[in-house]
Amino acid sequence: MDPRILRESLETVLAMDDKFPRRFYEILFERHPQVSSLFVRSSAGAQQKMFAQKLCAIVDHVEDAEWMTRELERMRVAHDEYGVTAEMFPWVGDALLDTLREALGSGFTAEVEQSWRVAYARLTSTLLKER
Ligand code: HEM
Repeated sequence: MDPRILRESLETVLAMDDKFPRRFYEILFERHPQVSSLFVRSSAGAQQKMFAQKLCAIVDHVEDAEWMTRELERMRVAHDEYGVTAEMFPWVGDALLDTLREALGSGFTAEVEQSWRVAYARLTSTLLKER
C-alpha cells in the first residue's frame, strides 16, 4: 500500500468536478437500495462533500498512527449509531473501488487497485473492532 498512490489517484478523481462522490453513492444505492434509507441526516450534496473530505483526510493521514486511531475511533462510534452493519462494509468498498475504476480508466492500474484494497481493508478492520 503506497500512500502517494492513494493521494494522487484521489486527487485526480476529485479534480473531475464533483462527479466522483455523487457517482459513488449512485453505484452504492443502485446495488444496495436498502442502504439509502440510513442516509437521513444530510442532503445528498452535503453527504457527498463530507464523504470526499473525510476520504481526503484519511488518505493524508494514513501514516499518522495517532491521528488514524483517534479519527477512526470517532468514525466507528458514529457509524455504529447510524445503523451501519458489518455486511455493509464490502458494499461500500466495492462501490468505492468501482467508482475509482470508472473515473480513472486506464489510470486504474493494478498498483492503484492494490493500494486502495489494502487501505480499505485496514480501515474496515479498525471500524469493525469490538462489535
Ligand atoms: C471509507 C469509509 C467511510 C468514510 C470515509 C465515511 C464517511 C462518512 C462521513 C464523513 C459521514 C458524515 C457524518 C460523520 O462525519 O459522521 C458519514 C456518515 C454516514 N456513513 Fe459513512 N463513511 C465510510 C464508510 C461507511 C460505510 C461502510 C457505511 C455503510 C453503509 C457508511 C454509512 C454511513 C451512514 C448511514 C451515515 C449517516 C448518514 C446520515 O447521517 O444521513 N459509511 N460517513
